[in-house]
Order: sequence, then C-alpha cells, then structure tokens
Amino acid sequence: MSTERQWDIVSGVGITALAVASARAVESSRPDALARDPYAGRFVEAARPPYPLPASAAEAEGLEGAEGWPAFATYAGVRTRVFDEHFERAAEAGVTQAVVMASGLDTRAFRLRWPADAVCYEIDQPLVLGFKLDVLRGHGAAPTVPVHRPVGVDLRHDWAGALEDAGFDRSRPTAWLAEGLLPYLPPEAEEALFAEIHRLSAPGSLLAVEYYPDMRGALDGVSGRSREWAAQLETLIHTDERPTPGERLAGLSWRTRDEPMVDVARRYGRPLEGPSHVAGSAVFAFAERVS
Ligand SMILES: C[S@@+](CC[C@H](N)C(=O)[O-])C[C@H]1O[C@@H](n2cnc3c(N)ncnc32)[C@H](O)[C@@H]1O
Repeated sequence: MSTERQWDIVSGVGITALAVASARAVESSRPDALARDPYAGRFVEAARPPYPLPASAAEAEGLEGAEGWPAFATYAGVRTRVFDEHFERAAEAGVTQAVVMASGLDTRAFRLRWPADAVCYEIDQPLVLGFKLDVLRGHGAAPTVPVHRPVGVDLRHDWAGALEDAGFDRSRPTAWLAEGLLPYLPPEAEEALFAEIHRLSAPGSLLAVEYYPDMRGALDGVSGRSREWAAQLETLIHTDERPTPGERLAGLSWRTRDEPMVDVARRYGRPLEGPSHVAGSAVFAFAERVS
C-alpha cells in the first residue's frame, strides 16, 4: 500500500483480497476443508484479475505457475477457521459487536451463526466492499448477522470517526479482527490502528490479529510464474521492524496470547505443506481487554 489513491478488487492491495478469496475457494473445494466459504469462488469468477487465479482445487492443479497454491490454500483454511472460532468464542462470552478490519472478501457476516443482538461492521476501501456486496447480492446471499454495516474508509484516515458515524458503540465490548492486514500498513499506521482499537474498546473486548515477525526477504524464494505475483506483493508490503501486537498492547490492560501458525495447522491435522512457504512464519495473536 504505497499510494494514497483508492484501489479496487483487481488493483493495488485490493488484489490481495482476491488472492485470499481464491485460496479460500481452493480450500473450500477440498473434501477435508478446514473452512467452507461458499462465496469465495464466486468472487474469483466475477473479477477479471490480471493473473489467472484458481476458484477450486481442480483449477489450481491445472494452472501453470500455481505451485504455491496448495500451501496458500491450507494457510487460508487454517486462518479462516481460527478466526471463525474467535467470533464463536466472542459470541459465547456475550460479545456481540464485531468489527472486521480490512475485511476484503471476508464473508463471515454472510456465513457464520450470529447471536440475535449481533452487529457486524466491516471496514475496507469503498470499491472493494462495493464489489463484494454486488457479487453477494447477485447470488441472492443475505447477511446471517442481524445488523450488517459495511464502512468504506481508508484505514490510514479517520476510520474510527466513520465507524462511530455508522453506529459503532464504544461502551459495548467489541470482537475485533485484523486478518491479512498488518504487512500492508506502514509502522506508524499500524501504531495508530492499535491505539484507536484500544481507545474504542470497552473492557471485555477481544482482538484477533495475524502478524509476521519478520517479512524481510520472505518472498525471495518464489520463482517461476509466481515471481510476477511475488514482485507485486513486494511493492505492497512493509518490512520495517516493528513491535508485535502483544508488545503494543502490553501495559494497556490487555491480556495477550500468541499462537504460531504452524502449531495451529498441526492442531487441526493439516500441517503446512511446502518447506519455505511464507505463511509458515505467521503468528496469530489473541487479546482481551481486561479493565
Ligand atoms: C490480504 S487482503 C485481506 C482481506 C481479508 N481480511 C481476508 O483475510 O480475506 C488485505 C485487505 O486489506 C485492505 N486494506 C489494506 N490497506 C487498507 C487501508 N489503508 N484501508 C482500507 N483497507 C485496506 C485491502 O483493500 C484488502 O481488502
């Protein structure tokens, strides 16, 4: 994310949301899928990406340059499931206000079971959210969450103001999610993001986020046709050193816990395939505001 202009689903960092949807579609089509997103493949079909992206495991097999896709799909499955469980835990704890940051083509508002008083806000660029809602409407999908509020705003700007204008209630505990976002934010934007989340979080709020301890050189090993894709990603990610989410929240009355991606994958019985896949270094961080 290196410019201030808006992006859509096939440009800038928007296309990363489509790539994740593609990985979720591949995973969803497996008989032993860790998570099933019935809409993921529909987004891939509806978009016109500059690179071919698979919408199923069968398509991934036949696609030249898609060698990394099985590992990426496993990663998407693990990540989707672990964060689905975050919202399930939140609902069990009575936390029924949810905010999905940089939601991209996330369809949790359309496929999870939500409590009767739940509200789900989704933040991303207006064109990304517009594409998603158009495709979902075109397939007759209706939100499964009782109140669904998409908020089209840039996360480097006053997203908190936009969220509150949309009805967000800071006196109510919130279940936050930042999935597939931090590498695309410069360190100062990430710092501001955590400060705002803290400011808006009532005690009892829960946060789930995925981070990469060190992204430097993470894509060096990618070769062949995937190199073109990796080269674009390299222009979008920020590799500067920065505190971990746990370090950022330390001293701010949050209790935090980290779970490395590889451990979660093993726990689900789906160890990450492929020796040097970048996703293998990801860490899932969970936090609860205790007072
Ligand atoms: C890798 S995708 C992840 C999407 C979704 N969370 C998922 O895991 O499927 C990254 C998303 O971050 C969004 N994003 C990145 N920087 C942003 C910003 N400054 N403001 C709003 N959205 C942003 C992109 O539009 C994109 O949808």
